[in-house]
Amino acid sequence: MQNYRIAPSILSADFSRLGEEVQAVLRAGADWIHFDVMDNHYVPNLTIGPLVCEALRPHVALDGKPAIIDVHLMATPVDRLVPDFARAGADIVSFHPEASQHVDRTLSLIHDEGMKAGLVFNPATPLDYLDHVMDRLDVILIMSVNPGFGGQSFIASALPKIAAARQRIERYREGSGREILLEVDGGVKVDNIAAIAQAGACTFVAGSAVFGAPDADGGYSGAIGALRGALPRH
Ligand code: DX5
Ligand code: ZN
Repeated sequence: MQNYRIAPSILSADFSRLGEEVQAVLRAGADWIHFDVMDNHYVPNLTIGPLVCEALRPHVALDGKPAIIDVHLMATPVDRLVPDFARAGADIVSFHPEASQHVDRTLSLIHDEGMKAGLVFNPATPLDYLDHVMDRLDVILIMSVNPGFGGQSFIASALPKIAAARQRIERYREGSGREILLEVDGGVKVDNIAAIAQAGACTFVAGSAVFGAPDADGGYSGAIGALRGALPRH
């Protein structure tokens, strides 16, 4: 649990300078780059896809060492996009179970393409989807806003849900010895990241909290440092 990860969402970055923006947050201490794919169908917004992922791939590295591109798919059909993101150099692909006709098949497809697989839970989506797929998961991503936009407020009912997901992960780990990461996305800020970590999350997506940070407060490194500094040590 010591191993926390901060994953800035480039949804809030300056899209005219994305390469520089990912470089800047990695230099500022980011662990992963969170890449939000929206299709104006599954969610009411339209963003970026595999072509942009491929263009960014060489920039998602620090001192020559590649960093993780964490793709959050909010698009249908899911399966159609999976091989494209593999070719584009994505490391993790997470999708919403409601967006896939066959969740188990999509998880297999992501693994077959050589990537890690995650399932994403909207605020009103029950964790029951986890019942039969734990051994096929690398990441569980709990949404603490309704997907579609950056800059929304954290929905408090995400906290007990994170705790419930953590319990499932621990139970599974005891039986299998395998680790599943618990990621949280939406409204993560300096003033709530400690509570989110206490509930059991280890990986924190932060869009506006990082890319919206004023220069006067130390810019990206100030923001990432403040998020990390607020995390409990135990
Ligand atoms: C919302 C996206 C998030 C978003 C988070 O649908 O999945 O990744 O960018 O932005 P903040 O941190 O501003 O809530
Ligand atoms: Zn996201």
